[in-house]
Amino acid sequence: MTRWPAEAIWETVAPLLPGFTVEILPEIDSTNTELMRRARAGQTEPVLLVAESQTAGRGRLGRDWRSAPGASLTFSMSLPLAPADWSGLSLAVGLSLATSLHPDIGLKWPNDLWWQERKLAGILIETAALGAARQVVIGVGVNLAPPPDADGLRTPAAGLQELLPAMDAGTALLRLVEPLARTLKTFETGGFSPFVAGYRERDVLQGREVVLSDGVQGVARGVDAGGALLVHTAAGLQRVTSSDVSVRPRSDTHL
Ligand code: BTN
Repeated sequence: MTRWPAEAIWETVAPLLPGFTVEILPEIDSTNTELMRRARAGQTEPVLLVAESQTAGRGRLGRDWRSAPGASLTFSMSLPLAPADWSGLSLAVGLSLATSLHPDIGLKWPNDLWWQERKLAGILIETAALGAARQVVIGVGVNLAPPPDADGLRTPAAGLQELLPAMDAGTALLRLVEPLARTLKTFETGGFSPFVAGYRERDVLQGREVVLSDGVQGVARGVDAGGALLVHTAAGLQRVTSSDVSVRPRSDTHL
């Protein structure tokens, strides 16, 4: 049974995000789906929604996100956001999470958290129009232990408890949410630029041969100030911005 530090989180985040609330549910289809439903229904107050179990968790690119109750942390945060430029948001979020958890956690463009060549956490960002502004829903799934069916996954999975054996879902959540709220405020005013240097320090693709799902191949050369992945290909330097492509280090045969 997880002890959720809902009040401690509320106390640190409410001063940053007025109207902020924390909700913990035993089960829901998907925390992202639920907060997108609420956003479309006009509920725009900042909220953190944590689910102990998801019956229809979603990943990027239309994939499923499967997580075992007790062996993972699944939550979404929803708030109105109005940056001048949205590019790089998912990278800034990934950097915030990695920085909060451990210095050895890397980032695989655009926003997976990696440790020892395996995926530790994923991020799904969705937005809904609210007149001139937009509501953003940031969904985060962190493996505490590697999923039991990890061998069948496209990307091998790692668990946070491999790095931090005493870590539980509540403690991880407490570490993550306030820095995430600060990251979002910084992003809203300054875009991705304040995060570029930090991202580069954790970029696991830097200097590696990569293959994109659209067939492009080359050597990853970091990210630019807008969060685009730079890939040195036979045809020259390409900027990869599409959220529809996935990228793998070339040694990875799980394409
Ligand atoms: C990915 O790596 O493809 C993104 C995974 C995001 C999973 C989280 S779990 C909480 C939130 N609710 C969802 O349905 N998805 C996100």
